[in-house]
Amino acid sequence: MASSPSPSPSDAALERVLTSYDTCYVWRYGSPSSALRELYAKAKRDQWDGASDLDWSIDVDPENPLLPAAINPLQGFAPYEKMNAREQIRVRQSQVSWQLSQFMHGEQGALIVASQLVSAVPFMDAKLYAASQTMDEARHVEVFSRYLSEKIEWEWPVNENLKRLLDGIIQDSRWDLKYLGMQILVEGLAMAAFANFHQLTSEKLLKDLIHLVMRDESRHVAFGVLSLQDYYAQMPAAELRDREDFVVSACELMRDRLIGEETADYFGFQREAYTQCMLASPILQLFRTQLFARVVPNLRRLGLLTPKVRGEFDRLGILQFEHADPAAQDAALGLA
Ligand SMILES: [Fe+2]
Ligand SMILES: [Fe+2]
Repeated sequence: MASSPSPSPSDAALERVLTSYDTCYVWRYGSPSSALRELYAKAKRDQWDGASDLDWSIDVDPENPLLPAAINPLQGFAPYEKMNAREQIRVRQSQVSWQLSQFMHGEQGALIVASQLVSAVPFMDAKLYAASQTMDEARHVEVFSRYLSEKIEWEWPVNENLKRLLDGIIQDSRWDLKYLGMQILVEGLAMAAFANFHQLTSEKLLKDLIHLVMRDESRHVAFGVLSLQDYYAQMPAAELRDREDFVVSACELMRDRLIGEETADYFGFQREAYTQCMLASPILQLFRTQLFARVVPNLRRLGLLTPKVRGEFDRLGILQFEHADPAAQDAALGLA
């Protein structure tokens, strides 16, 4: 029997959060920002369809770990080394399915926030662009969920730290915090994580899928930078402090708290030992640091690399990216 399309109020897969923010009409339709209009034109022109532009006939072996063994951070971890080869493959599959699941949940967060921006932003060019981003994010949810259900056959719930960050962005009533949280931080980090995956996997469908998603994400980050340009320059110090605190706590959360302890629980590894192993892994340290190669220079462009934020970023080991060039990074990935 087909399942009902309308969820019941007690559906465990349904969660409600209360949101409150001002919705703005803008009665001035002219375009004060030619850069945003150009980005919107590009967004309309570059729409793709995950159903027809990706080759879903490609067979993906759900037993294939998809990432090279050489970057396995659990090498040398005693409870992992004690497992037989089959169990070890299962652990490596879990890491990929966990990561792709978090990408999917993050995309749902982006879908919700982009739709909120359509209402909340007080300028028309940004409303139009946010509408196009909402459609982009719908496609991203569609392709990641299809890949997970049809090809990987293993999904994980949203990680509690990622969920806390998404909740904070979705529930904040200030439109600039939505941009700062989603377009600058989450999407900036996602671009770097996608780039890693794209480079490391040899599975063609996943590679193509991620490339299409990245084409959109690089525009979304640019949307955030263009929309917030000059906004923080005139902000009173007390209000700016909120943004500084938000940036530092979000970066700390995303740097050290997204390492998949849920997979450790699943295989009966001790959480603490697993966490220590993941945090000490040189390859993961490199990846976790590289995640910030777009976020940090974009924060500098927005005037948010204040002395306080610089000090905290120095402590986190990510200040080194302050003069990195996100446009050059995109061009190197063929996304310009
Ligand atoms: Fe997305
Ligand atoms: Fe996005």
